[in-house]
Amino acid sequence: MNVAILASGRGSNAEAVFKRARDGALANARPVCLISDNPQAPALEVARKFGIPCAFIGAQKDGSKGFCRESVSEYISALNSAKAELVVLAGFMRILPPEFIEAFKNRIINLHPSLLPSFKGKNAIKQAYDSGVKVCGCTVHFADNSLDGGKIIAQSAVEIPENCSLENLEKLVHEAEHKLLPQVIADISEGKIKIGDA
Ligand code: GAR
Repeated sequence: MNVAILASGRGSNAEAVFKRARDGALANARPVCLISDNPQAPALEVARKFGIPCAFIGAQKDGSKGFCRESVSEYISALNSAKAELVVLAGFMRILPPEFIEAFKNRIINLHPSLLPSFKGKNAIKQAYDSGVKVCGCTVHFADNSLDGGKIIAQSAVEIPENCSLENLEKLVHEAEHKLLPQVIADISEGKIKIGDA
């Protein structure tokens, strides 16, 4: 199964996926490209390090949020050229428009650093930390065209230790993400988790 990753930032989750693939531990999944909406994203460098084809594709010509029409077409054709069968949003900080979701119906998954539906949006780990919850975690879900919305596929819970700092909690949640996301991709590629029109 050909897997495309969309990432806007650091790329630590893309790296976790590429490492698993390199180590032969990603079942039938094969990373085929990484696309970023941010030309400075360290994620692009991560892809180069692993020899994965990568590209910057601007989403909005004027730098605003969302996608302009030409950009949606550019994204869809780049993903089609890479023969992507699964699109993974790994820290891709834009809401996809309906035509994008439709083009890869039930084949786009998003990673979010909270136990959804709690703490959607930016700084989810800080939101959880500030709220005083005792358990937080991360979620992989099908993407729809709402903020961190769509059917939940898998979650991993993280207990928040007493006197945990925000930095330490971020580390714990990211560690959980680095296990959960590759596992979900592997499970999808083996048909243990059904996607697409199935
Ligand atoms: C991850 O924590 C991911 O869950 C989050 O961005 C981070 C990207 O880290 N995504 C969202 O908040 C989506 N709403 P990375 O660039 O190191 O993989």
